[in-house]
Parts: sequence; structure tokens; C-alpha cells
Amino acid sequence: MERVLVVGGLSGIGKSVVECLQEKFIVETLSRRKSTQHKIKHHTIDAAEPDALKNYFFSSEKYDHLVITAADTPIGGIYSLSDEKAKYAITNKLWLAYVAARDIPWKKSLTFISGYLSARPGENTTLQSAINAGIEGMTRGIALEKAPARVNCISPGTIDAGLWDKVAPDIRQKTMEKVSKRTLVGHAGLPKNIAQAVKFAIECDYLTAEIIYVDGGARFG
Ligand SMILES: NC(=O)c1ccc[n+]([C@@H]2O[C@H](COP(=O)([O-])OP(=O)(O)OC[C@H]3O[C@@H](n4cnc5c(N)ncnc54)[C@H](OP(=O)(O)O)[C@@H]3O)[C@@H](O)[C@H]2O)c1
Repeated sequence: MERVLVVGGLSGIGKSVVECLQEKFIVETLSRRKSTQHKIKHHTIDAAEPDALKNYFFSSEKYDHLVITAADTPIGGIYSLSDEKAKYAITNKLWLAYVAARDIPWKKSLTFISGYLSARPGENTTLQSAINAGIEGMTRGIALEKAPARVNCISPGTIDAGLWDKVAPDIRQKTMEKVSKRTLVGHAGLPKNIAQAVKFAIECDYLTAEIIYVDGGARFG
């Protein structure tokens, strides 16, 4: 069986990716927290730290597939978000994706997760839009550098899970109602919608340098 490492696989979209892939692949996870789920091999490490990644994976066998769902990105407008938080957000998504793709050994496919704000910015999302657009640009760049290995990116719309678990219930509900009206399908997404797309990106061996928006049409609503 082929091996897949899901960076960020303990919660939200990453957890759903793990569940979706488990039947066909040997799946491992990596994030900063320790795992309480002992059936799956977990690596506790900060994926935004290149030296830590290089040392940790120094003599490891290459994974067949790498999926990077990890991110920790405080949100806010350019005049309200502190420089410290803005740099933290860039480090924990764009930089993390760059160094994890480079310093974790993989050979067949790499799948990034970005976000539809790259194409359709909302209120106070300038930084998120830039980070996600950066990941989408990086997808095409690494696809060229690593060919014939394949590199793709799934760009989700609003998914009612994961990072939203940390948001106050009333704000979350209002946001989901607002977002639902902006989609063409009339509702927010579920983690499994993204997991299905990740599985497709791993399995379709003629797909590379591609950005797949799974956003319920939110770019056009
Ligand atoms: N949910 C949405 O509506 C939505 C929409 C568009 C795009 N996205 C994108 O989809 C991806 C997954 O989002 P989610 O909603 O599933 O978020 P989530 O539940 O917060 O998952 C993010 C995971 O990343 C891990 N992580 C964060 N920083 C890390 C680091 N430095 N090193 C290693 N692991 C790290 C976290 O685990 P630890 O804390 O253990 O490190 C966490 O398990 C993100 O890129 C997000 O921006 C989400």
C-alpha cells in the first residue's frame, strides 16, 4: 500500500482527508500537538520550522503522497491586524507550505490546500487572499520543478468545521448564513467535500499544476 502523510491531519479538513484515504492508503499525520488517536502514526512537529523538518526526516523513506492542510492564520484587515499576527499567519500557512513541500520527503504527488479568497476576497481578508494566491502560484511553480511528480491544490470555499470550531457559536452561525447566500448551491461546505477532491488529486495521474475550487460556486454568487 502507498504511504500518505497529511500535515495538519488531526482536525477539520485534514482529519476528514485522513478518514477518506485510510481505506486505500497507509496514512500518517503531522502537527504541533500530540495525538490521542493511537491507531494512526502521528509526528509531533512544527511544520513551519525547516531545520526541525530536515533533522526529523533526515533518513526517512519518501512518502508516496504528501497532503498539506495545516494552517494557523489570524484574520483581520490590513489596518487592524498587528504586524506580529500578520507575520504569524504568513509563517503558518504560506511559509509552512513552502518548507514542508521542500523538506518532507515525498515522490509521487503533493496536494496543497489554499482557499477561494485567492479569487474572491471578502471583508478584511487581504492577507488570507494573498496567502492563498501565493499557495496557488507555488503549486504551478513546484509542479514544474518536481515534474514528473504531480503537484495540485484544492481551494475550498467556506467549510463549516475546522477553523470555525474556534469561533463563537453566534458569529459562526451568522457567517454561515451569510456565506450560504453567496454560494450557488445555497450552503456552506463540509470537510468531506474537500477530502473527496484531495483523493481525486492523489489518484488521477494525469492531473498536475491544477487548482481545483471546491467552493459551491462562491466565487460567482
Ligand atoms: N474551514 C474553512 O472554512 C476553510 C476555508 C478555506 C480554506 N481553508 C483552509 O483549509 C485548511 C484546513 O483548515 P481547517 O478549517 O481544517 O483548519 P484547522 O481545523 O484549524 O486545521 C489546521 C491544522 O493545522 C495544524 N497546524 C497549524 N499550524 C501548524 C504548524 N505550524 N505545524 C504543523 N501543523 C500545524 C493544526 O494542528 P496543531 O495545532 O496540532 O499544529 C490543525 O490541525 C487551511 O489551510 C485553511 O486555511 C479552510
